[in-house]
Amino acid sequence: SENGSLSIVVLGASGDLAKKKTFPALFHLYRQGFLPPDEVRIFGYARTKISDDELRNRLHGYLIKDKDASPEQLDVVSKFLHLIKYVSGSYDSEDGFRLLDKEISEHESLKNSAEGSSRRLFYFALPPSVYPSVSKMIKACCVNKSDLGGWTRIVVEKPFGKDLKSAEQLSTQIGELFDEPQIYRIDHYLGKELVQNMLVLRFANRLFLPLWNRDNIANVQIVFREDFGTDGRGGYFDQYGIIRDIIQNHLLQVFCLVAMEKPVSLKPEHIRDEKVKVLQSVLPIKDDEVVLGQYEGYRDDPTVPDNSNTPTFASVILRVHNERWEGVPFIIKAGKALGSRKADIRVQFKDVPGDIFKCQKQGRNEFVIRLQPQEAMYMKLTVKQPGLEMSTVQSELDLSYIQRYQGVTIPEAYERLILDTIRGDQQHFVRRDELKASWEIFTPLLHRIDKGEFKSVPYKPGSRGPAEADELLEKAGYVQTHGYIWIPPTL
Ligand code: BG6
Repeated sequence: SENGSLSIVVLGASGDLAKKKTFPALFHLYRQGFLPPDEVRIFGYARTKISDDELRNRLHGYLIKDKDASPEQLDVVSKFLHLIKYVSGSYDSEDGFRLLDKEISEHESLKNSAEGSSRRLFYFALPPSVYPSVSKMIKACCVNKSDLGGWTRIVVEKPFGKDLKSAEQLSTQIGELFDEPQIYRIDHYLGKELVQNMLVLRFANRLFLPLWNRDNIANVQIVFREDFGTDGRGGYFDQYGIIRDIIQNHLLQVFCLVAMEKPVSLKPEHIRDEKVKVLQSVLPIKDDEVVLGQYEGYRDDPTVPDNSNTPTFASVILRVHNERWEGVPFIIKAGKALGSRKADIRVQFKDVPGDIFKCQKQGRNEFVIRLQPQEAMYMKLTVKQPGLEMSTVQSELDLSYIQRYQGVTIPEAYERLILDTIRGDQQHFVRRDELKASWEIFTPLLHRIDKGEFKSVPYKPGSRGPAEADELLEKAGYVQTHGYIWIPPTL
């Protein structure tokens, strides 16, 4: 039964992720009626000894900006905050978790008067070092015990391991306690609107089907840029680097959706089967198809060692050994402290064979999906320059969401994914074998970087990253159109 009580436990409730992402996402769900107050209780759990009210006060400012809030809005915030109870305890002893179980059971006994189930969702907003012990404690003390149905699910965040071996070890430890259908490995990129649109675009449009292959596509770029550095997260970041922070998870998930074959159906297992398959078809990464960078000033962060070689920028070419993609480079690029903040997928098509317009300057067709900011997709085309002369110009067919979907609020990635975990839909979560295949791709390179065998070249903050990355892009066959820029529409 999907009725009865729902207990959502945020572990690591006083941490950064919980404050910035988890609680705000829960609040948005609440506001839209997805967390009915007669069923739901939210429990914050962490080591810090604070009261319910102290936690609520800390969260308040992350849920709403007081200065522009109406009394009605403040009322909603306050009602939401009163669904939250705080329990303090350690991550490796049973006392705290027994207390947590007691609180959850109390809530359940109030809610489940006659019928109804016990649904328990545990969100790990925690450093991965405590995942194994926390999983053990939950299993020992806090799983759903109701005979009336329900479930226990856990949501785990990246970094899920540091390499193939540690990730597999973690998977095994958790896998001994929970079954795969109970484990939700969250990658918030899978909750982004245009990432979720990928399969629809590719497989619901006749226009794309015959073109989406090596015969027509010259290269694909998947690019993530941020215009700020590690911003106080240097200590965490330095142990991981940009490949583990962004590429091995977020961008590789996007890559899967761009490159995979059509799934048998939309069933989560069918989709994930295809993702695993395409990951397994990726060839070992070649040294001369990698550029690593580190922005100047990164080591000024006191939590970063002075001799750190950790990349804050990486450009890596992936090559897929299958019938569809042989010979097509997938350039995966991510960087911090660059000149702009955006993420997009750029599919560049080959030149027109026997082109009668060749003598006139023109660029190649491109299909660009702007994941953020300002969701959009546009197709770069050559058209006749309007006017008396017969000349060509680059233009575009533009589907910009703010213009086309006015008044539609695009949900936050976390909001959508948490709702999926409550509904039991694993389509947008990473399966164990998928995770393994993704680590297999990057582990050899990561080990070499860790050993200092692969150096990061310095780049200026606010720049495009190292010049070597643009050279790599050109070498991979990307042809830049000069003099054309897409101007996103404004309202
Ligand atoms: C996180 C990374 O997973 O994703 C951060 O740890 C990064 O370093 C963030 O800033 C980017 O997410 P988004 O949704 O802002 O693109």
